[in-house]
Amino acid sequence: MKPAGDVQPFLPYGRQTIEDDDLEAVREALLSPYLTTGPLVPRFEADFAKTTGAAEAVVVSNGTAALHLAARAIKLDRGQTAIVPSLTFVATANAVRYCGAEVVFADVDPVTGLMTPATLLDALRRAPTSTRAVFPVHLNGPSCDMAGISELAKSWGLWVIEDACHAVGGTQGDSSVGACAYGDLTCFSFHPVKTIAMGEGGAITTNDAAMAAGLRRDRSHGLIREADAFRLPESKKADGAGNPWFYELHEPGFNYRAPDILCALGISQLKKLARFVRQRRDLVALYREALAPLAPLVTPPAEPVHGEAGWHLLAVKINFAAAGVDRATVMGRLAEAGIGSQVHYIPVHRQPYYAARAPGLELPGADAYYAGCLSLPLFAAMTESDVLRVAKALTAALGG
Ligand SMILES: Cc1ncc(COP(=O)(O)O)c(C=O)c1O
Repeated sequence: MKPAGDVQPFLPYGRQTIEDDDLEAVREALLSPYLTTGPLVPRFEADFAKTTGAAEAVVVSNGTAALHLAARAIKLDRGQTAIVPSLTFVATANAVRYCGAEVVFADVDPVTGLMTPATLLDALRRAPTSTRAVFPVHLNGPSCDMAGISELAKSWGLWVIEDACHAVGGTQGDSSVGACAYGDLTCFSFHPVKTIAMGEGGAITTNDAAMAAGLRRDRSHGLIREADAFRLPESKKADGAGNPWFYELHEPGFNYRAPDILCALGISQLKKLARFVRQRRDLVALYREALAPLAPLVTPPAEPVHGEAGWHLLAVKINFAAAGVDRATVMGRLAEAGIGSQVHYIPVHRQPYYAARAPGLELPGADAYYAGCLSLPLFAAMTESDVLRVAKALTAALGG
């Protein structure tokens, strides 16, 4: 029997990197008078706005809440439609359905998994005139062609809500992802597998101050606390100022708040974003070298062409048929070697709920991407020898 010291640690496909200063930041927040909304909420928002280059950042409880609130901010509603690429996490499409609107799925490039201006145009031609918005998803970390998508979307009179849950720390041309240089609102997730972690957390960035104010109201039940907006006569004192206890509800919102405890972690993690992004880029470069001998069976992620990627996932494309082994077997063999892998994603238009709403929809790019994709471990704390270990295990799993 091997001594326990020889057992190599399990490498998940993604995980957070928590350091001593993160622990200390959370400890301080726990000992402060505030556990939920306190001073760290606006501090995280200011830091995140500065990082992304947007005028405003609104922190929320997770990326799904960010997408839902962004959809509500543009007043997406029943009887309307939004375009979502099929290669995404279900949350992007679900946010549209939460508003009662219908989803028209766009196809994606079979190599990158990204929606393109051409696949958007194809979706627009299938979509009804009630279409109001498009949700480009920066799958795995590289940005979509936002200049092309935005130009097309604007010419069709659509709002652009970017799902950048995978892409924090990346760029689009000369701008940071989240600067809203091309879109109206950008949504982020800080789930632990993402580049920075809050446990659960998300944010929306925008350059529209009124929209940001509306988002902040909507994340906290829809309560209005500004006296000049009060409608009830008893809301104000004789001098016209609002009564100190007063709030009004004009439209119900949600409790999508992010607490101070998690904002403390977010502030601390944000300080390391540039390092984490650099480490991830270096790991992707190492993977490209280490996987080169597996060509043409395995294709590493394509070089991004619309900016620098803020890599979230290391998704390789595998020709399972040519390798003579199926994906489940490869995943099983990797797991036996202590290596986690995952599939991102099952095309959302194939999910029973959405397939029932658009029967017979064929999106060959999404199907082709899905057929070969496999996410291998990628997180900031990985070392070069971890990458070599994954490449060796994948070689063995493919029978080589
Ligand atoms: C593309 C995409 N959009 C939205 C979400 C939802 O984010 P959260 O898990 O923080 O709700 C995720 C999470 O994995 C995602 O990958």
